[in-house]
Amino acid sequence: MKNVKLTSWLAGAALAIILTANAQPAKISVAVDQPGHKVSPMLCGIFFEDINLSADGGIYPELVRNRSFEDSDQPDYWKLTNADVGNSSMAIDSSRPLNPSNLHCLRVNAEGGFTLENDGYWGMNIVKGDGYAFKAAAREENFNDPLTVKIISSTGTVLAHGEVSGLTGRWHYHTLNLVASDSDPKAHLEISGAGGGVLFLDMVSLMPDKTWKNHGLRVDLSESLDALHSSFMRFPGGNWIEGNDLAHMYHWKSTIGDIDVRAPLWNTWGYNTTQGLGFYEYLQLCEDLNAEPVFAINCGMALNNQDVPLSRMGQWVQDALDAIEYANGPTNSVWGSLRAQAGHPAPFHLKYMEIGNENGGPDYAQRWALLVNAIRAKYPAIKLIATSSLQDGSHPLNPKPDIVDEHYYESAESLMRRADQYDDYDRNGPKIFVGEYAVTQNAGEGNLRAAIGEAAFMTGMERNSDVVTMASYAPLFVNLNHRAWNPDLINFNSSGWYGIPGYYVQEMFGNNRGDVTLPTTVETTSVPQPTPAGEIGVGTWNTAAEFKEVKVTAPDGKLLFASSFSKNADGWKLLGDGAQWSVRDGALRQTAQQTFIRALAGDRSWTDYTLALKARKISGREGFLILFHINDDDDHVWWNIGGWNNTQDALEYGSGSVDGKPDRIETGRWYDIKIELKGNHVKCWLDGQLMHDIQRPRPDVRCLYASATRDDASGDVIVKVVNAAPFPVETEIALGGIQEISSPALAIVLTSDSPHDENSIDHPAKVSPKAETFDVSGPDFRRTFPGNSFTVLRMKPGE
Ligand code: AHR
Repeated sequence: MKNVKLTSWLAGAALAIILTANAQPAKISVAVDQPGHKVSPMLCGIFFEDINLSADGGIYPELVRNRSFEDSDQPDYWKLTNADVGNSSMAIDSSRPLNPSNLHCLRVNAEGGFTLENDGYWGMNIVKGDGYAFKAAAREENFNDPLTVKIISSTGTVLAHGEVSGLTGRWHYHTLNLVASDSDPKAHLEISGAGGGVLFLDMVSLMPDKTWKNHGLRVDLSESLDALHSSFMRFPGGNWIEGNDLAHMYHWKSTIGDIDVRAPLWNTWGYNTTQGLGFYEYLQLCEDLNAEPVFAINCGMALNNQDVPLSRMGQWVQDALDAIEYANGPTNSVWGSLRAQAGHPAPFHLKYMEIGNENGGPDYAQRWALLVNAIRAKYPAIKLIATSSLQDGSHPLNPKPDIVDEHYYESAESLMRRADQYDDYDRNGPKIFVGEYAVTQNAGEGNLRAAIGEAAFMTGMERNSDVVTMASYAPLFVNLNHRAWNPDLINFNSSGWYGIPGYYVQEMFGNNRGDVTLPTTVETTSVPQPTPAGEIGVGTWNTAAEFKEVKVTAPDGKLLFASSFSKNADGWKLLGDGAQWSVRDGALRQTAQQTFIRALAGDRSWTDYTLALKARKISGREGFLILFHINDDDDHVWWNIGGWNNTQDALEYGSGSVDGKPDRIETGRWYDIKIELKGNHVKCWLDGQLMHDIQRPRPDVRCLYASATRDDASGDVIVKVVNAAPFPVETEIALGGIQEISSPALAIVLTSDSPHDENSIDHPAKVSPKAETFDVSGPDFRRTFPGNSFTVLRMKPGE
């Protein structure tokens, strides 16, 4: 075990690492009398992306799913039931649209009694005594009967009902105020009628009267955000703003005004978006959260690498300028007047705009320049954020960005290692916005260990917040019934929510930020690393390939596992979105051209073994992935043969690649593959040729990570301490430059019995912070930090 001494000096910019031979007790020294740079007031924020049904089916509380019948050419999420003698049917109709943005409606050919049913998003949360506004546009052809509208519980009880009558041949809106007689989180809506003729329905809506601050959003989910005390909110994406292709890019102008003229748009995260949570609602939410809005726009580049031609970028430039006018312009300006009409005459004071998402390369640089030059000419005070390339981390240089957005999705250990990353950043370069980060490997659905990794990284960002001025975890929300990304900070269903342990890390930082950094020295040892162990696997990335004759042997030659794929893939876990696995001619074959597809087998306790198999590329851009030492379905540990568009061969551990060399895989040729694993030693052969002979890079993880700040209003010294070790660490804490501290002091501790512990809807606070006071005799004291814990200490210097 080595002993590591870390010192962060006044500006928090210089970091000295001194290795000493002997282990010593841990010590954290804080120079309270030598305050450093200010803590960025924008440091702790949130990133709201419409992903995982965060908006529709989430914070935007419309209870009816597919209210505008735009989701597909079928009446998705609607069910029609006939009464005994009825023979009615329903279909999507586009013969006479409600308006030019809402081209489809529901047509019911009525022949006797019928009931239309909508369950919303896995049940509607109805609360006794609360009011619900029903609204629908309707017209008829020879259908003169009234419609009965009911909210029904999951056990069949009518919770509220009303009647709609007076339908005519023209579109009219009909409304009802329904008050619930009882509660049920899984209720549904029914609309029933009888007789003959044709009924047309559109924009069928059921909205709760109670919304957060009366601004139209779901109360509990808004409160879950409010509790974080975030200083900014980036919105609305992410990949969502890029869109799958040119036709599905996010354009804010389609998201304002009357709800029924907002054009729904297919969301890359697998659902149709109503745009009910539009630009205005996002701005209002930011204001209500007291968070600076950070609006991200599409930069003319889509996820499928389609770019808007430069000659057509004029519209994108104009949209960016108009967005700023909409948010900030006077009420007599074109776009400012629309904001006023929507209910907010005062400006929203938008100060930050992000150009694109995860874009890079020359195409991005050209579009960045176009947009930035135009925005800076008209609105020089707006801070413009550039994205950094996913390929090489670079960002546009000309014009110089005010801020650059970096994203990290990694293991807990690699985020811990990043705690020092910003110590060396150029203090004259652009400021850094870590716009997306999270522990995504070995994280379960958000466990304690992941939260510990994130907290360690955050101590580094706080210590360097002269450079890292903004940071936000991602993603924020997930509807538990539609998880397109894992993990997510806030998990919810129709009626409740819980925060993963990482949520509490965000809350603890957000509520205990402090105003000025205090230089902090941490003397600690590194965490002993376990011997690498885990399952085997095969995988593909944008490629079809097949695998056969898989064999795993122990060092003594004993056969641990063999797969002949004679009939099926028994014993294998077949993973990956959109994967197409099959077994054919004694081989396991994967034919979908998707990323991160893998099949796993074996035992997580295996340490030393030899994996041998044959692999053949069928088609696609890359070669194949051979996985080993896998402990989690989301592990990224593999030998990538023919990766990087079939140009390289390398070992990949999480986001880092090791021992890369040029290589190319031929389509249609069977390759012999062998990997030998002994402790940290990895050897890889391709067709008998030794390609890699390396020591597996081991994460150099320290036991303790710490940062310290002072809160100007209270005078409190705030020390944040992460113990990343699995065992308790007794630590001497020395607050230099003060004589006394008032007793008792406050400790807020986040920990749990196991690093794998998670919260759930039934146990939402299993891993949550506990506050305790403790007596301190003076500025030097001892405290034991539990294994896998994050602690905030608040201490008041005495007179
Ligand atoms: O946060 C989830 C996704 O991760 C975002 O949409 C994208 O920006 C990133 O790749």
